[in-house]
Amino acid sequence: MSATGPTTTSIPTTADGAAMWEIVSASPFLDVNSRYAYALWCRDFAATSIVARLGDRVVGFVTGYVRPDQPDTLFVWQVAVDEAARGKRAASTMLDDLVVRVGVPYLETTVTDDNAASLAMFAGLAKRTGTTMERTELFGESELGTEHDPEYFYRIGPMDLKTLTRG
Ligand SMILES: CC(C)(COP(=O)(O)OP(=O)(O)OC[C@H]1O[C@@H](n2cnc3c(N)ncnc32)[C@H](O)[C@@H]1OP(=O)(O)O)[C@@H](O)C(=O)NCCC(=O)NCCS
Repeated sequence: MSATGPTTTSIPTTADGAAMWEIVSASPFLDVNSRYAYALWCRDFAATSIVARLGDRVVGFVTGYVRPDQPDTLFVWQVAVDEAARGKRAASTMLDDLVVRVGVPYLETTVTDDNAASLAMFAGLAKRTGTTMERTELFGESELGTEHDPEYFYRIGPMDLKTLTRG
């Protein structure tokens, strides 16, 4: 666990799934999955996910998994911070703490082109770890249909994780 200002980060528990679902339900940009999906994720992928708390309240989370066929790569699925807690580095702190904990040099994710905050957040991680972020189109209309914006695929790395280790 680490603390930056009043926010602390920790490994999620199944009890955190409901708060994650509530944050996503109120967030723009993200697909809302079922409460069941978040609880199950917290059971089976806690080691590659993280939550941020303000006191006892979950105010943000990152869900991720290590790619089964590429074990040097953490895929980040969703990142969300409660609106009232945004802009205070909660997301950056979660990403930093998570990549240090998982300890792999590459991170992949997808972002829609209109999500400036998310793009800045991942670009910041690349910068802090002394690396670059490459972009290609992953899922377009044939996979996502016409109702969903294209998801662009980003690969960050190799990350120098030593730059994130706090003394
Ligand atoms: C994206 C999100 C998680 C960022 O959370 P946050 O805690 O506010 O982010 P941070 O305070 O750590 O800021 C990270 C970087 O993004 C920048 N940023 C934050 N909000 C921004 C905005 N609205 N527009 C542009 N840049 C923004 C910050 O300046 C910072 O940049 P820096 O590292 O170069 O200084 C949050 O805005 C959110 O939950 N959005 C809705 C859900 C979403 O879009 N999730 C990502 C989907 S892939």
